[in-house]
Amino acid sequence: MSGSRKEGIGATIRGNFYICQKPAHYMLTLVVGEAALELVPLSIANHPVVLRSARKRGKPPGAMLLDSNFHHAAMKTLDDAERRGRPDIVHVILLCALESVVARKGDLTLYIHTYNDYCIWVNPETRIPRSYNRFCGLFEQLLEKGSIQNFLKVEEKSLAEILEELPGEKVVLERGGSPFKIQKDAVCVVGGFPHGGFLTELSHPKVAITEYHLPAWTVVNEILVRYELL
Ligand SMILES: C[S@@+](CC[C@H](N)C(=O)[O-])C[C@H]1O[C@@H](n2cnc3c(N)ncnc32)[C@H](O)[C@@H]1O
Repeated sequence: MSGSRKEGIGATIRGNFYICQKPAHYMLTLVVGEAALELVPLSIANHPVVLRSARKRGKPPGAMLLDSNFHHAAMKTLDDAERRGRPDIVHVILLCALESVVARKGDLTLYIHTYNDYCIWVNPETRIPRSYNRFCGLFEQLLEKGSIQNFLKVEEKSLAEILEELPGEKVVLERGGSPFKIQKDAVCVVGGFPHGGFLTELSHPKVAITEYHLPAWTVVNEILVRYELL
């Protein structure tokens, strides 16, 4: 990972936790990969649009989530700008996943891997705020502190490292892959970015839901319903 991909993440994010041991019963593991979720990188912290939104929020620029809705003009100088600054993707995925039947049954394990190679473990009992602003506040606090009680925990880890440590049948969801058939011990990797493919080279089988381009949260819903009906 390049040094620039580390920019903008709170230096306090460290600490060892998990990774989940083989469970006593089969579980679905969802890994949202390369998610467009990060704090505002230092390199654009002094850009006028960033300063304006920081003033409005009453926060230091580097303590806010990067959001292309507000920071688009400043993001033009960032690498991979088109695939960053979309925390709303993670927000919708979390609402879908954590309120699903699979999660209610206690059969879901969920990780969010971010563009900057941080891995967020999400306790399936976490109640994610439905309000986007409150979601941003919670995740800003998480990325600065490294954890929120026993609900959300951050660890520095690449996508490849996460997948290496997880037990189960790993597949990468990708348009153009072979037809998707879910397994009881599935580990499903879904891209948490708005455009393009994975930057990480993933050797696991690629599987597709359909030939259509789908948003990541629709893919997550498809996986969850297929798992529920297994
Ligand atoms: C918004 S897409 C990223 C853009 C993607 N290259 C596209 O053209 O659809 C986010 C993620 O959703 C998943 N995805 C989208 N369409 C899919 C499909 N038809 N089958 C399986 N996964 C899909 C992939 O994991 C992808 O990384």
